[in-house]
Amino acid sequence: MNYHHVLERIHSEIVSLSPVGKVADYIPELAKIDPNKFGFSLSPVGGGGPVEVGDATERFSIQSIAKVLALALALAGGADEVWERVGVEPSGNPFNSLVQLEYEAGIPRNPLINPGAIVISDILISRLPSPKRDLLAFVRKISGCGTVTFNEAVATSEACCGYRNIAVANLMKSFGNIRNSVADVLDFYVHMCSLEMSCRELAHTFLYFADPIRYNRMGSDFLTDAQVKRINAVMLMCGFYDEAGEFAYGVGLPGKSGVGGGIVAVCPNEFSVAVWSPRLNRKGNSYLGTEALSRLTTLTGLSIF
Ligand code: DON
Repeated sequence: MNYHHVLERIHSEIVSLSPVGKVADYIPELAKIDPNKFGFSLSPVGGGGPVEVGDATERFSIQSIAKVLALALALAGGADEVWERVGVEPSGNPFNSLVQLEYEAGIPRNPLINPGAIVISDILISRLPSPKRDLLAFVRKISGCGTVTFNEAVATSEACCGYRNIAVANLMKSFGNIRNSVADVLDFYVHMCSLEMSCRELAHTFLYFADPIRYNRMGSDFLTDAQVKRINAVMLMCGFYDEAGEFAYGVGLPGKSGVGGGIVAVCPNEFSVAVWSPRLNRKGNSYLGTEALSRLTTLTGLSIF
């Protein structure tokens, strides 16, 4: 498969489309991003990568993509508590919605919506001796990139204006599903979301979920094959919130988006891919990023279906 040819073709088609969508501005720091950025990087399983075009080596705010890494870290430390406190069902609701939490007694539908990732944050800060530093160490280890770090300006910007997340965390606390102080949990959560990585770094990191040889090599403190399988299932069903069905239909890969405009997706045993285009659709997912991935799986004939 000549991935380079495919990515070049998609890039040239994508840049000729008229700009649609809007950069996230509810986190003021994210509104400063150049909406015309476009990065695309693919890491084939078994080597031969990265294959990339555009702004593939420029770092951006990975936002909710980090929820998958936090889930992986939580599962590596023991899965039972995770699945007692968070479900695995698609929510069919926006990522920051409160409605289900009230009638489902503070148990979030899944770990990739904001309430679920906030519970995962609570679990991690209870378990980790130095939560933010330990999260960073884990991300650096699986990415193989020692310079990945938080963007403090983005974290502060979200902390100032994260009214819905404050409400979500307090509601779950009232049901007993948050054990630490809401302030501590949200401080961890906004830092996790402020992680910055490039498409190249993300595609390489998510090879972890595409390549059994790679994750088996990482050692016993990491995930089992069965856990990787389940994380991929959660990404497929829940990675795009109330657009998960649309993404499965159009792209056909497990994946995760972030309001920084990034999307990462994995084709087990074939490749891991990351794309970045900051203009978002109404559901908070990158408009051109989704389009690029849809073209990728159609042109290569590679998806999970
Ligand atoms: O909590 C928030 O709203 C953001 N830190 C993350 C949201 C996000 O990335 C949703 N993804 N598409």
